[in-house]
Amino acid sequence: MATHRRLLLLLFFCLASVRAGLADTNSQDVAALQALMNNWQNVPPNWGQNSDPCGSQWDGIICTNGRITSLRLPSMSLKGQLPADIAQLSALNYLDLSSNPDLGGPLTPSIGNLKQLTTLILAGCSFTGNIPQELGNLGQLYFLALNSNNFTGRIPGTLGLLSNLNWFDVAENQLSGPLPVSSNSTPGLDLLVNTQHFHFNKNQLSGQLQEKLFNSKMILIHLLFDGNKFTGPIPTSVGLLQKLQILRLDKNQFSGNIPASITNLTTLNELHLAGNELQGTVPDLSALTNLNYVDLSNNTFDSSPAPPWFSTLTSLNALFWQRGGLTGKIPTSLFALPQLQQVVLATNTFNGTLNMSSNLGPDLQTVDFQDNAITQIDIASSYSNTLILVGNPVCLDSQYANGLFCQLKQKVVTPYTTSLAKCGNSSACPVDQSLSPQSCSCAYPYQGSLVFRAPLFADLTNSTLFQSLESSLWTKLELAPNAVYLSDLHFSSDGYLYIQVEFFSSTGTSFNRSEIIRIGSDLTNQIWKAPPIFGPYYFLGYPYFSTGGSGGSSSMSTGVIAGISVACALLLIGLVVVGLYALRQRKARREAKTTNPFASWGVGGKDDGSAPQLKGARWFSFDEMKKCTNNFSGNNEIGAGGYGNVYKGVLTNGQIVAIKRAQQGSMQGALEFKTEIELLSRVHHKNLVGLVGFCFDQGEQMLVYEYIPNGTLRDNLIGKGGMHLDWMKRLKIALGAARGLAYLHELADPPIIHRDIKSTNILLDENLNAKVADFGLSKLVLDSQKGHVSTQVKGTLGYLDPEYYMTKQLSEKSDVYSFGVVMLELISSRLPIEKGKYIVREVRMAIDQYDQEYYGLQDIIDPLIKISVKLVGFRRFVQLAMECVEESASNRPTMNEVVKEIEIIMQNEGVSTTSNSAQSSATEFGNARGAPRHPYEEQVPIRDEGSSAFAYSGGYSYEVNVEPK
Ligand SMILES: *[C@@H]1O[C@H](CO)[C@@H](O)[C@H](O)[C@H]1NC(C)=O
Ligand SMILES: *[C@@H]1O[C@H](CO)[C@@H](O)[C@H](O)[C@H]1NC(C)=O
Ligand SMILES: *[C@@H]1O[C@H](CO)[C@@H](O)[C@H](O)[C@H]1NC(C)=O
Ligand SMILES: *[C@@H]1O[C@H](CO)[C@@H](O)[C@H](O)[C@H]1NC(C)=O
Repeated sequence: MATHRRLLLLLFFCLASVRAGLADTNSQDVAALQALMNNWQNVPPNWGQNSDPCGSQWDGIICTNGRITSLRLPSMSLKGQLPADIAQLSALNYLDLSSNPDLGGPLTPSIGNLKQLTTLILAGCSFTGNIPQELGNLGQLYFLALNSNNFTGRIPGTLGLLSNLNWFDVAENQLSGPLPVSSNSTPGLDLLVNTQHFHFNKNQLSGQLQEKLFNSKMILIHLLFDGNKFTGPIPTSVGLLQKLQILRLDKNQFSGNIPASITNLTTLNELHLAGNELQGTVPDLSALTNLNYVDLSNNTFDSSPAPPWFSTLTSLNALFWQRGGLTGKIPTSLFALPQLQQVVLATNTFNGTLNMSSNLGPDLQTVDFQDNAITQIDIASSYSNTLILVGNPVCLDSQYANGLFCQLKQKVVTPYTTSLAKCGNSSACPVDQSLSPQSCSCAYPYQGSLVFRAPLFADLTNSTLFQSLESSLWTKLELAPNAVYLSDLHFSSDGYLYIQVEFFSSTGTSFNRSEIIRIGSDLTNQIWKAPPIFGPYYFLGYPYFSTGGSGGSSSMSTGVIAGISVACALLLIGLVVVGLYALRQRKARREAKTTNPFASWGVGGKDDGSAPQLKGARWFSFDEMKKCTNNFSGNNEIGAGGYGNVYKGVLTNGQIVAIKRAQQGSMQGALEFKTEIELLSRVHHKNLVGLVGFCFDQGEQMLVYEYIPNGTLRDNLIGKGGMHLDWMKRLKIALGAARGLAYLHELADPPIIHRDIKSTNILLDENLNAKVADFGLSKLVLDSQKGHVSTQVKGTLGYLDPEYYMTKQLSEKSDVYSFGVVMLELISSRLPIEKGKYIVREVRMAIDQYDQEYYGLQDIIDPLIKISVKLVGFRRFVQLAMECVEESASNRPTMNEVVKEIEIIMQNEGVSTTSNSAQSSATEFGNARGAPRHPYEEQVPIRDEGSSAFAYSGGYSYEVNVEPK
């Protein structure tokens, strides 16, 4: 006892002699930051003002238990080198120093000691020399961005050891030499079986790609090798990359034939092979039914007629094949492809007639046949977009010689720029400021370049498209509406889209450091996802804070450091003793109560039956989860989103489940997590995805759902789910989803607003029963505010209720709006925003009361259902959808009314809606009323259409099986 008292006394002195709160930061971390400050100019001004980075929240630093776990300083104008002392921050898991062009020099090999690192972002600095092979020691690394620096030398083979790496970006450096593959004794990039992105573009990499580089275990989706000096044949093994979406091998020196295995890449959206030395004939690409963008220009292929896939690839959007040796007739059906925008087949020897007289695709904008051998033309007079025929014999004909299409001069187009029209003639701003389109006053914007590496479109005038980009930016970066200004849109010669972007503060004329860190970091680590049509991107911010502050002035003296170290050492001893003492005195009960809200359920102890509200959901240990997903292997991954990944798993009892694993940063507090589980386990309905259980163990949060085998509605609409959806099936799906939603609104207690209804959140089982998933964004409607809930706007672009967006007043009617958009998707199979067109507006403009056949929607309706449509039901279905997307929420029907209407439509079509598989809404709702109410506040990041392929959530009743830990 006397020892205790003496130690406590010592502790007291220690605390008194050093500033309070000192204990918050580990002394080794303090010393490491001191080294950084000595090496850098322009560190944030609140660095070094005291000696406790964690306790007093130095800008850019996040701590956990007194250890610095995250260091983010993008766009801070940092100047200097990264010292070896960085390795002292041994608990660091996140390091982002991007967009500091004066930070550079060699990258210290000691960075390989930061074993906890999951994210390393050094993009847009001026690092030189080799990429240190010690980076291969970072076994936890998930995200690596070294792009836009001045690295030279080879890519070290040790990076193949990064078994958790997902994002691998070394683009735009001066790297050279071949890509390493593994051998008996050395690792290579072929070992990276969990990596989705190889962004190696714009370096000086050379040599042949070895067959061994790719294998069927890999899950690459983006392979960007363009702008290098690779030689030799394209390896046949590229055909093993089952998930590949974008393949850019253009601007290299690849030779030989294109391997036939490329036709195995059925998920491919973009194929860029231009500017190589490829020969022979191009394989038949007909099987690549998802191809949007094909560029085969400037190779040395054998002369051949137009291949068959010119007429069959219905998803084709851009076709470039200049200097392709193409000859003979131009297939007329090419121009009828429904999504085609650009055809550039210049410098070939097509002859005969160019027939564009009828059946032109609705989006056709550019047709370039310059320098061919066309002798006759037949062009519909309604076609008024770009047509270039200079250099064809037909232009020698006096009848056409003066036609616009025989002139080189093309239409002058002005690319999109954010409109400032509503600001009237506001006076000019000082040079360092700009006019904010949000406030119409001068302010200091945070500027940067957004660079899209493989966009799917070429039209820079499309205001709907770029406005969708703006609103995606301001929504997801949590800025005020219109606080984004886009300008200077242009394509570089290699097809990269550059956009100058300015962000404006919603609270004043400038941002503070933590706001810049938040915005810069969300853009560099890809938390913000561009609309899918924009493809992969990177962001480089401009330095925001003017230089001038200097590291030296804010340094702590060595004396202080020494003092701190001693004090901390003493503190540590003191705390250990006191901690042991406390532990012995009070045991685990108190601890369980304060740190584990699940304790009362018996999780980690015994089920004492005191938690009746959990009947149904099972508790799983982390080890169980790990085992049943094969250690969360990439092969088991079935979806991903802002919250983390979704894995398929098989439980020991054989049940197949989908496991939603929250990642760092999207975890909820334990109490919120508990509340969510209580909620989900009470909600059950056969049109809602059921909750099997959850895992709250070893710092992880996971929700375990029943596995729905047939994928999302979206997948099935675009033919990826393998089911043919005729009109009746679509009606059945609409009815099921509507019933699920009606249950949430009308019968769940408390009622739940889903907030993110979309086709990727509607899953289909083997009987085509629709199951609504992911109440991740759900919001309870509390009685006190019945009617509407005011909250931060969340949801998915394209489905978002405009009234909710404007007023931030959330009600059930917002779900009704989103559901209306899904109904339009069921009719058209189009995404809500596709090629810059918004489906609601398109349908509204196209509806023609007098069109007996298709109600004016013949161009919008999915051809797959055209034949089977009976007019009466179809017309009523469209009308119902349009009622759901009424501008004003009060004019929209309730979900119950929607259910009844769809039932009537189906009865008129001769289908019973009261069979076992589709009972009337009123009778089959489980009773969820009577349970206690809980305030509920979720913390799920907004996610976008592109990212949440499978987002599971929901509720279901299983037997209680709460196990001791
Ligand atoms: C670094 O690279 C950039 C472009 O990648 C180049 O403009 C610059 O000159 C390079 N700097 C050095 C020091 O090599
Ligand atoms: C392509 O797919 C076929 C059949 O699916 C398979 O036999 C062949 O091995 C694959 N080839 C390559 C190189 O992936
Ligand atoms: C093909 O080469 C021509 C002439 O060098 C060039 O103008 C054109 O941009 C190239 N096309 C593509 C798609 O690379
Ligand atoms: C078009 O070109 C093909 C192949 O070069 C040739 O066989 C055919 O006779 C040509 N047709 C016309 C009308 O010139």
